[in-house]
Amino acid sequence: METAHQFGEETESPKHVAVIMDGNGRWARSRGLPRIAGHKAGAEAVRRTIKACRELGVSHLTLFAFSSENWKRPADEVDDLMGLLRFYIRKEVDELNRQGVSIRFIGADDGLPDDILKLIRDTERTTLDNRNLILTVALNYGSRDELARAARSIAKEVADGTMAPGDVDEAAIARRLDTVGMPDPDLIIRTSGEQRLSNFLLWQAAYSELVFSKVMWPDFDQEALKSAIDEYQRRERRYGAVTA
Ligand code: FPP
Repeated sequence: METAHQFGEETESPKHVAVIMDGNGRWARSRGLPRIAGHKAGAEAVRRTIKACRELGVSHLTLFAFSSENWKRPADEVDDLMGLLRFYIRKEVDELNRQGVSIRFIGADDGLPDDILKLIRDTERTTLDNRNLILTVALNYGSRDELARAARSIAKEVADGTMAPGDVDEAAIARRLDTVGMPDPDLIIRTSGEQRLSNFLLWQAAYSELVFSKVMWPDFDQEALKSAIDEYQRRERRYGAVTA
C-alpha cells in the first residue's frame, strides 16, 4: 500500500484521477447544436483539465474517450468522434510533449482504423520519457474486454506450460492488463450527473473514490476538478481496514 494513504493521516491530493467524460450530447442539445459540437467543446475541456491537473499536482490523468460499446452509436457520430480524436492528437501532441506530458493509450486495437493505430503508437513513442503528467486515453476500451484479453493470455501460457495454474494470482492478472505499471486511480469522476462506471477500469477501481459531478463535460474546468478533489479529500480511505 502506498505511504501517501496511511490510515489516520489527512487524505492527500489524488495522484491518479480518472474521468468518465459524459454529457457532451446533452450539452449540445440544450444549445440546439449537433452532438459533434458537444464533442468539440469536450475536447476543449480535455485541454483545460490537463492544465488543471498539472497545476493541482495530479501525476496521472486517465480519460475515457471511446468505449468498446460506443461503436453502437450512429455511424456518423462514430466517424465524427474518430475524426476529432485524429485531429486532436495531431494538433496537441507537440505542445503536450513540450509540457512534458506522456501520452498512453489503453483499449483494444481491433476495430480501430489503421491510421489511428499508427498515430497512437507514434504518439506513445514520442512522449514515452515525459514525466510531468502521465495522460492515458482509453480508446476502444472496455474493462470486461481488457479482463478477457488478460485471461486469454494467461490461458495460453498455462496451455503452453510456461505458467502453472497455481501462479495465477492478482499480480499475474494486473500484469496483463492494459494499465500495467500504472497506479490504480485514487479518484474516478463521472460528469453529467450519471452514477455508474459503464465498464471503465472495473478491476483498477477496487478502492477508488467515486465522485459524481453534475457539470456537463464540455463545461468541466479547474473549479469543477478542484471541487471533486475537495470531496475526495473529505473521504476517509480505509482499504477494508478499520480506523482507530
Ligand atoms: C460522452 O458524452 C462523451 C464521449 C462518448 C466522447 C468523449 C470524447 C471527447 C471529449 C472528445 C475528445 C477526447 C479526447 C481524449 C481528445 P455523450 O455523447 O455520451 O453525452 P450524452 O450522454 O449527453 O449524450
